[in-house]
Amino acid sequence: MSLPAGTGRADRTLRLVADLGALFHLRASYAKDHPQVAQALERVLAAFDAWCAYTGTAEVSVILVEGHLLVDRQPVPDDASWARGLVRAFQRNDIGGLTLLLGLDAVELGGFLDDCLAARGAASTPHLQVGRGGYSTGDAPETPGGAGAAAVGPGHAVTAEQVQGARAEFAAVAAGGVSRIDQLRQLVARLARSAGTGTIDLEGLEGVRADDQEFLHGLGVALTTTRLARALRIEGKALEDLALAGLLHDVGHLEPGVAGENQARRRHLHPVRGAARIAGLDGVPDVAVLVALEHHLRFDRAPAAPSTGPSRMPAAPARVVAVADSWETIRVLPDVRLPEALAVLRTRTGSFLDPALVELLSRLEQARASGG
Ligand SMILES: [Fe+2]
Ligand SMILES: [Fe+2]
Repeated sequence: MSLPAGTGRADRTLRLVADLGALFHLRASYAKDHPQVAQALERVLAAFDAWCAYTGTAEVSVILVEGHLLVDRQPVPDDASWARGLVRAFQRNDIGGLTLLLGLDAVELGGFLDDCLAARGAASTPHLQVGRGGYSTGDAPETPGGAGAAAVGPGHAVTAEQVQGARAEFAAVAAGGVSRIDQLRQLVARLARSAGTGTIDLEGLEGVRADDQEFLHGLGVALTTTRLARALRIEGKALEDLALAGLLHDVGHLEPGVAGENQARRRHLHPVRGAARIAGLDGVPDVAVLVALEHHLRFDRAPAAPSTGPSRMPAAPARVVAVADSWETIRVLPDVRLPEALAVLRTRTGSFLDPALVELLSRLEQARASGG
């Protein structure tokens, strides 16, 4: 197998994927004490260390979504043979996603592979979380002082069917084809109980339709909103409602618009259209309507969309989702590392975004990056 030899983020990502795929393959062929297995274990750990050192993070999520691999939310090219090897290994072992956490060593990784081959199957370990349904989640609450990274609880795992059901319902909301949002609510309830360690973003994959991209962007915003909200000690139904607001904030982008309308006009109107679309649905909390309407209002009250007459600051829930929205937009850019992403986020402080919330998210991200 020829491995990528470059030094950028994409090359390091591919190397990690390739080494993981090779490890699964070799361990399925050889005994656990075979030298080739030992070397493959060390290669994975070295690739993981190199990835963390380059990105400035302390974990990486490798997620399988409908046969496509995503590493830290970014798609891996499907035509890479090393990616296909890992996809097959995940499928054989019923693994939806793996999150590797700093501290993982050869003994723990080797034990995980032993479990995969044994009747008990793939199981989470302290530094290796297994997701079953397309991505992994954890159950521990997250606070600015200590990011949670608990093992996945089967009762809280999000299944591929749940994601698919919610995705279909999201598209139906935009098309005006449903009067309730039961599946989206259920998905958000599960996300709200997770620590938000995994997410999905298929942006850049061929064949992804516009409504899929909006759904996946909404999912990312919902997860980041959840992390912010928990750090603000928002729990229970209020947390779920706010996460749902994050999921639905941009649904107005999917409205068909009127003939002759240009992109800028559609963008300007999407908050109003989204709010109007979801306002009449059963199961949509008022806060989601408010957030859809206000998520582009500026913190400094400068003119924004929608035009509000007398200038005003967005309401607190909209300020939280706005920070999550900006962060998700920045962090999915190719080749952006944590310090750069935070620097870009901070350029919006005080103008578009609430400074206190930007600082809170920065602390959360830095705590997560340092494994704290
Ligand atoms: Fe928006
Ligand atoms: Fe957005």
